[in-house]
Amino acid sequence: MSKRIETTDLNVYYGNFRAVEDVTITIEPRAVTAFIGPSGCGKSTFLRTLNRMHEVIPGAHVEGEVLLDGENLYGPGVDPVRVRRQVGMVFQRPNPFPTMSIKENVLAGIRLNNKRMPKDDQDALVESSLRGANLWEEVKNRLELPGSGLSGGQQQRLCIARAIAMSPEVLLMDEPCSALDPISTLAIEDLIAELKQKYTIVIVTHNMQQAARVSDTTAFFNIAGTGAPGKLIEVGPTDKIFSAPDVQATEDYISGRFG
Ligand SMILES: Nc1ncnc2c1ncn2[C@@H]1O[C@H](COP(=O)(O)OP(=O)(O)OP(=O)(O)O)[C@@H](O)[C@H]1O
Ligand SMILES: [Mg+2]
Repeated sequence: MSKRIETTDLNVYYGNFRAVEDVTITIEPRAVTAFIGPSGCGKSTFLRTLNRMHEVIPGAHVEGEVLLDGENLYGPGVDPVRVRRQVGMVFQRPNPFPTMSIKENVLAGIRLNNKRMPKDDQDALVESSLRGANLWEEVKNRLELPGSGLSGGQQQRLCIARAIAMSPEVLLMDEPCSALDPISTLAIEDLIAELKQKYTIVIVTHNMQQAARVSDTTAFFNIAGTGAPGKLIEVGPTDKIFSAPDVQATEDYISGRFG
């Protein structure tokens, strides 16, 4: 289920503005890779290229290659809808569909893909996805109630359940804990540690402790100044990046001496 991502010289544009320059990186399966770096350095932009969500923005485009186990996601004839099914995404703010029940939220992706599924299979998928997101016990008696009635941390786990229900190979998470309290944050971090047994996981975070706690590999992005493109400065084992990075800018950023 878990696949390797490799990008080569990836450049990412909004119209004429190059937001991200020449990123070459390998993201290993069954591991957590953290993207860190200052605001505006292109972490979210780069992340969205990994499941072809970038191009939905008018004028936005990508140059270069993104390989998923060797298949170029930007190759001719590749269906972006299929790519988004294989590479799931969880956003910064929990975004359950407010009028849908908890159960309908879990099934939302499947329904959008027009998959017909017998009711028993639906129920089984809802349960396995909610169990996978560590939410089942908390919601099993209120599956028909609106997803918006859950706490922020529960809503974020619901969004993770919705992503898992699609059986993705990769899970991209853009600051999934930034709207959460410390207890919910730890719940999500525990969950990430479990999910990496099965999935390739990329997490964007501004929280250095979180990156150090949850990730195996850390990638530091930086920007030279306003209007300059974001670049990948250094990537390596998280232990090394946080104890003995090769680049001074990485050291300055992780130790808070930035800017
Ligand atoms: N829809 C857009 N249209 C034009 N420019 C954009 C768009 N989204 C982002 N940008 C620009 O691209 C650059 C990178 O932004 P991005 O959101 O990827 O940064 P980030 O590293 O995720 O920042 P943060 O940590 O604040 O979330 C910024 O200069 C930003 O203004
Ligand atoms: Mg961002």
